[in-house]
Amino acid sequence: MNAAITATAKYLPDGILSNLDLERMLDTNDEWIRTRTGISERRILRDPEKATSYICGEVARQLLEKRGMKAEELDLIIVATMTPDMLFPSTACLVQDIIGAGNAWAFDLNAACSGFLFALNTGSRFIESGAHKKVMVIGADKMSSVIDYTDRSTAILFGDGGGGVILEPATTEGCGVLDNRMYCDGTSGKDHLLMKGGGSLHPATHQTVDDHLHYIYQDGRMVFKSAVTSMANVAVEIMERNGLTAENVSWLVPHQANQRIISATAERMGISSDKFISNVARYGNTTAGTIPICLAELDEENKLHPGSNLVLCSFGAGYTWGGVYVKWQ
Ligand code: ACO
Repeated sequence: MNAAITATAKYLPDGILSNLDLERMLDTNDEWIRTRTGISERRILRDPEKATSYICGEVARQLLEKRGMKAEELDLIIVATMTPDMLFPSTACLVQDIIGAGNAWAFDLNAACSGFLFALNTGSRFIESGAHKKVMVIGADKMSSVIDYTDRSTAILFGDGGGGVILEPATTEGCGVLDNRMYCDGTSGKDHLLMKGGGSLHPATHQTVDDHLHYIYQDGRMVFKSAVTSMANVAVEIMERNGLTAENVSWLVPHQANQRIISATAERMGISSDKFISNVARYGNTTAGTIPICLAELDEENKLHPGSNLVLCSFGAGYTWGGVYVKWQ
């Protein structure tokens, strides 16, 4: 039994942080940002009372509404995030409360930018095994909560937002989530993209605050090299394993970190620019949010049809990366 995606939804906050806004805050400029990253603006959840669970709650409500499903029908909620509201309880438990999904169990999964694909793979297994019938998978991050807006190398990259899907047993044979390849390499990744403070190694102290340890740190150049290679490799691997060609892939849905990484992946796959999704210009990198946001936009634009072949791929902190093949039901 395959798991099929039966609903998609996204939520982006209204607040906009443009390159021109960043020019006023930092030693940077619109031209540099657009040339190096393809980003023009990102969305920011400015209300300090609202966090990642708020984004997830908005996504979850829409998913239920679109599918005509009651919250009590859900068996499981998985939230992929690296910016949970709190270390515990999990954001998934907060979402269960927000929507009143009294019969669901719920947990968070952290694989940074690969979080949604790791969660999609995990959620699919509960459907495939027959354990569950209705699984909600959300990827969301309030990246503005971990960004040092005095650090030009990271402040320009990230935005807030999220998206999600409902997974149910496929009713059309041969459709659904058909293949997954997931990877991690902590040896190469652990020192180049991380947030040191706030965990059990460096709990919050005045010193950790003074040392900016509660913000994301990235060695952009190192991460860039690994991201380009790994995302392209896994996307090509998914194509080869499933007999997919540049012609019969309907959509490439890549993680949205940098336009140059997206274009390099598409090029390796031989995919033309009209077949890959890129909204990084409008939203920047929303981490676990990027791929489900792309799926929701494709769906809103009626670009997903029965039999459409989708290749999803991601790369993020860890390092983590992965690829998923979905035949749309
Ligand atoms: N404005 C102007 N100049 C800048 C800025 C800025 N915002 N940021 C850096 N610079 C300068 C640097 O100081 C450097 O100057 P120098 O040559 O005098 O030292 C120069 O520009 C080039 O810097 P690089 O870091 O080499 O720039 P690069 O072309 O690599 O682009 C970027 C940087 C955009 C961060 C890129 O490396 C990248 O996209 N990396 C990968 C990001 C990614 O995929 N992350 C994984 C997902 S995120 C997650 O999992 C949470």
